[in-house]
Amino acid sequence: MKYRLLFSLLLTTILSHAQKLNSFRPDRSLSTLADSSLTLATRNYLYLQSQLPPDRFPVAYDPARRTMKTSGSEPWVSGFYPGTLLYLYEATHDQALYEEAKRKMVVLEKEKFNKTTHDLGFMMYCSFGNADRLEASSAYKEVIVTSARSLASRFSEKVGAIRSWDSKPSQFMVIIDNMMNLELLFAATRLTGDSSFYKIAVTHANTTMEHHFRPDHSSWHLVIYDPATGAVQKKQTVQGAADSSAWARGQSWGLYGYTLMYRATRQRKYLEQAELIADYMLKHLPTDGVFYWDFQAPGIPDTWRDASAAAITCSALIELAGYTKKKTGRKYFRTAEKILAALSSPAYLATPDEAGGFILKHGVGNRPANSDIDVSLIYADYYYVEALMRYRRRSNN
Ligand code: GLY
Repeated sequence: MKYRLLFSLLLTTILSHAQKLNSFRPDRSLSTLADSSLTLATRNYLYLQSQLPPDRFPVAYDPARRTMKTSGSEPWVSGFYPGTLLYLYEATHDQALYEEAKRKMVVLEKEKFNKTTHDLGFMMYCSFGNADRLEASSAYKEVIVTSARSLASRFSEKVGAIRSWDSKPSQFMVIIDNMMNLELLFAATRLTGDSSFYKIAVTHANTTMEHHFRPDHSSWHLVIYDPATGAVQKKQTVQGAADSSAWARGQSWGLYGYTLMYRATRQRKYLEQAELIADYMLKHLPTDGVFYWDFQAPGIPDTWRDASAAAITCSALIELAGYTKKKTGRKYFRTAEKILAALSSPAYLATPDEAGGFILKHGVGNRPANSDIDVSLIYADYYYVEALMRYRRRSNN
């Protein structure tokens, strides 16, 4: 069994290298804009770095109050700052960015033992995963594998999923966001040859595909399972406008999640799922290229945009465009370009004095909790810079 899985992993790796990705001619002026946006983003992050206490991580910047929210290493967002620094270092080779990323990862490393959160993929793979990609090291690999073990400890065979939030023992809560943590598990199988991480990721993705999606391929934010039987107890929102609505960032987590599932497994059902999600999302993309915070938010068009959902979607669409039929890929790539152009305009892209060194403006963290509304968000920055890097790479194919 073990050998069968290892063989299929090997085959997936060979196929993914062999598969010719669709490539599309980039818009020339957008390519120039993307390059200058990376330069501006770097300037912003050098400023942000100068504003931060050594052991703190940036979370959000509120332009109305001109205040930055920071955290320790424990929240779900702590990997994004080092991860963004690493992407910017990759783009510019500015050593100051690399040194700052490494300093923050020293503070972050202890979270590899944190078994109280499902967010270890966000926290440890966006940071240590990128670090290992840029400069392979056994120390980074150890952090990735230990973090994956902590994440896997939250998996239930009965439910077929990784527990997202700890709550009453009678409730097993899974949010769509959790799809993003699976990349860490695939990395752990790749690094150790232990197929159990891979199997957990696939099982979680299959369970989520079965229960999180509505017939129109939008998703609920939260599904609560009975931990004893695995039966679904309730489907609802937490960060969206209503249980029946499509919370924008949740849709983008699903899109990105099933795109990465296809990359990791080459199973067609995940590609098809990503396309169905993308097609639903494209129908709800405003003509100016940035989503409202919820697709059915009350008051549209007089409500907030969420640059983070736009950035995550943009990055995912650039990748997905490479895998699909050429005609569909072109549609996704052109949509990604439209989003990238919007985010790279002065309406969304901040100068250092506008947003305390954050890169993007106008994100929504948690509207129902009235937290982080119309602010800069660290995860918007991460996926925007990732999208810029992917655009450059895909454009250069
Ligand atoms: N994972 C939390 C969020 O997307 O807000």
